[in-house]
Amino acid sequence: MSGSSDSAKEPEHKSFPIVVLISGSGSNLQAIIDSSSKPESSINIRAVISNNPNAYGLKRASRNAISCKVVNHRDYPDRDSYDAALKTEIDSYQPGLVVLAGFMRILTADFVNHYSGRLINIHPSLLPHYPGLNTHQRALDNGEKEAGATVHFVTPEVDGGPAIIQTHVPVYETDNSEDLACRVLKQEHLIYPRAIQWFSQGRLTIEDDKVLLDGKISPDQQVFSNES
Ligand code: GRF
Repeated sequence: MSGSSDSAKEPEHKSFPIVVLISGSGSNLQAIIDSSSKPESSINIRAVISNNPNAYGLKRASRNAISCKVVNHRDYPDRDSYDAALKTEIDSYQPGLVVLAGFMRILTADFVNHYSGRLINIHPSLLPHYPGLNTHQRALDNGEKEAGATVHFVTPEVDGGPAIIQTHVPVYETDNSEDLACRVLKQEHLIYPRAIQWFSQGRLTIEDDKVLLDGKISPDQQVFSNES
C-alpha cells in the first residue's frame, strides 16, 4: 500500500509529526485521526505502519489519505532484523513522537532506546497492575471493582514505563471480559489523543520516573468515568 499524503500540502499549523504503529482494528488510531483533524490540533500523522498486512486500521488510514506501510514481521528471520527494518521505515518520516496503538509486538531494547522519551503506548489496565495480555479477564478473575487503561512512555520493560494518563472505569458484577474491554476501549479513545496533544505541546516531562504535566503531577492525569 503506498502513501498519498504530501507533506508539502499539509497546513502549516499541522506541524507536529507523528507515526502510528498498529496491528489490528485501529480504533485508537481512528480516535487519533479524528482528534488530529480538528482545526486546533497541531498533530500531523505522517504515516501508519502495521506489522499485519490485514490490519483494518490500514483501511482507516487510507480512507483519511494517510501514508500506510506494512513491515511484515514474517518477512524477517528474527526480532533484531525486524526492529531494524521498522526503525528505518519510521525514521524516514522523522516523527517527533512514535505512537503504539495496539501494536502487538514485543520490541527490542535497541529499538526502544532509540526512541527514548518519544515512544508511547496504550495498555488496557491500570498499570502497574496487569501488564501483558488478557488484562480484562485477569481483573475479573481477581474480583477487581475498578479497571482502566494507561498511556505510558515505553521502556525496555514490557508495559513498565512511566504513566502519562490513566482512565478509570467501574467493573460491574455482571461484566464479562468483552463488556469490560468495550467500556475501557471507549475511554482509551479519550485519553490517547489527549496524551499526544500534551506531548506535542511540550507539556510533559519525566522526573524520578514520574511523568509531570506542566511541571507537576496533575489531577488531569487521572480520568474517572461512570459510563457503563
Ligand atoms: C487496545 O485495547 C489497546 O489498549 C491495546 O490494544 C488494543 C488496540 O485496539 N494495546 P485498537 O486496535 O486501537 O482498536
